[in-house]
Amino acid sequence: MKVVCVLGSPRSKGNSSFLARRICDRVRSSGAKVKIFSLNKISYRGCQGCMACKDKLERCGVDDDLSQVLEAVRLSDCLILATPVYYGDVSSQLKAFIDRTFSFLKPDFPSNPMPSRLAPGKKMVFILTQGQPDEDQFADIFPRYDSFFRLYGFSTTLIRVCGVFNPGDVENHPEALQWADETAERLIKS
Ligand SMILES: Cc1cc2nc3c(=O)[nH]c(=O)nc-3n(C[C@H](O)[C@H](O)[C@H](O)COP(=O)(O)O)c2cc1C
Repeated sequence: MKVVCVLGSPRSKGNSSFLARRICDRVRSSGAKVKIFSLNKISYRGCQGCMACKDKLERCGVDDDLSQVLEAVRLSDCLILATPVYYGDVSSQLKAFIDRTFSFLKPDFPSNPMPSRLAPGKKMVFILTQGQPDEDQFADIFPRYDSFFRLYGFSTTLIRVCGVFNPGDVENHPEALQWADETAERLIKS
């Protein structure tokens, strides 16, 4: 199994990255090949709306550090996305990555019943951590992005942890650790 993990938090030892790395460590010890990309450490632009991915190319027309991340996702079996909630949304680092995944869609995607350029059968784990303990707050984030990843053909899982603010808080959240471990086990068995 090839796993690509995209860390959207600028805090390399923050809550979302901790959970993502925990899953990565588990699946790696079961033989998976894991690549981890920390978006905050690479240089890239958001989607330029150039439509090169629809008019001329089968990939994103912007060549920068994100090109290798998008290519790794294309070749992977499983994508792990991890992000803090910032101002009621994913981090800006992750949002720019998501915009560039527009290149995964075929030119005729609005009418094509098979709109994705990606091979079918990929899995995606979406890890969201937020400071606000009220689960009703920011519950809209995952469904909004999930619909796009389903269009790409991913089957998706959410790990959402509320009420974690400082780096390390999630390590004192036994349920979150259990969700991460169960998710890793499911990936290993699949
Ligand atoms: C700029 C900024 C904006 C934030 N906005 C929110 C927010 O809208 N809602 C919320 O619940 N927490 C918010 N938080 C708190 C983070 O979501 C929380 O600390 C989270 O656990 C960080 O994850 P990380 O450690 O993986 O970076 C914000 C934090 C920062 C620094």
